[in-house]
Amino acid sequence: MKKKEDFRIMKKVGILTGGGDCPGLNPVIRAAVKYAVKEGYQAVGIKNGWKGLVENDTMELGLKAISGILPKGGTILGTSRTNPYKKENDIKKVRENFKAMGLEALIAIGGEDTLGVANKLSKEGFNVVGAPKTIDNDLSCTDVTFGFDTAINIVTDAIDRLHTTAESHHRVMVVEVMGRHAGWIALESGIAGGADVILIPEVPVDLDEVCSAIRKRHSGGKNFSIVVVAEGAQFKEGTMVTQEEKLDAFGHVRLGGIGQRIGDEIEKRTGNETRVTVLGHLQRGGTPTAFDRVLGTRFGIKAMELVLKKDYGKMASLAGNKIIAVPLEAAVSELKTVDMDLYNIVKILFG
Ligand code: F6P
Repeated sequence: MKKKEDFRIMKKVGILTGGGDCPGLNPVIRAAVKYAVKEGYQAVGIKNGWKGLVENDTMELGLKAISGILPKGGTILGTSRTNPYKKENDIKKVRENFKAMGLEALIAIGGEDTLGVANKLSKEGFNVVGAPKTIDNDLSCTDVTFGFDTAINIVTDAIDRLHTTAESHHRVMVVEVMGRHAGWIALESGIAGGADVILIPEVPVDLDEVCSAIRKRHSGGKNFSIVVVAEGAQFKEGTMVTQEEKLDAFGHVRLGGIGQRIGDEIEKRTGNETRVTVLGHLQRGGTPTAFDRVLGTRFGIKAMELVLKKDYGKMASLAGNKIIAVPLEAAVSELKTVDMDLYNIVKILFG
């Protein structure tokens, strides 16, 4: 005998993950699906970010699909950097598929790009809410994004490991980390790992200063140094180091390479043997920390709560220890760069 619910038309909520993946996406998906199912909704997984809405590519997202995903890194839905507003035909398909899928609402999990699209769609009248993701922690209106804690723990562990080999070989170790145009990862992992120099996009890099800090340290008896540099740090002259000129669909360049440039200069100017480590996508892989699992779970629940309350155009956010709702518009309007009070701690520590 069929269950009573089978004769009802279930309300549908779509869920997608867009942009660079990060640990904590699956906990958000899991929590949102659990809450949706509990409230009698059918959750529809949109595959590969906005690309899935363009191509009508979906997957079943019931309790079976989310079983066991809490500790898994990445996203079971897949992701892409597709910007549907780039092509008129793509955004047309998004509008059509949103309606054809019969979605009452959509939960978009992503950073400034994905949530920027969510905001535009919401302004067009589509029922969209968001959850803030990114290892970069550069999204406004939330104290922190999920994924960041895992990333800084990975980087801190790497710095700890580099310390022992740097000390044994009496070398300078330069570690290049991600974070795009914000220095959160470099700053917090640099503080946690006890780095000797921390270079972030918010403060222009002065190579004379970097080298004199290393010389001072070494003349004071230390025979090694650790330098953490954010991939988006810029030289005083305003030059940024990129891997290629090409821009992605959201207008971003691929950053990377500043670590080697700085390492070469340090070795040339100070005479200290220097090695460079680029942590790259290691910072985004693997299992989320307990903090990111809890935060992701809270964001997933809040996002679904916003759907239930029909409080659209909002994003789940962490304020102090509370999860609140903030307008998507405010969250994507400007990049959250590092807190200079935090940076000042570094200035005190490093003299
Ligand atoms: O935004 C997250 C991030 O990991 C940045 O820190 C980095 O610059 C970028 O994504 C790398 O992008 P991709 O995965 O496309 O190489």
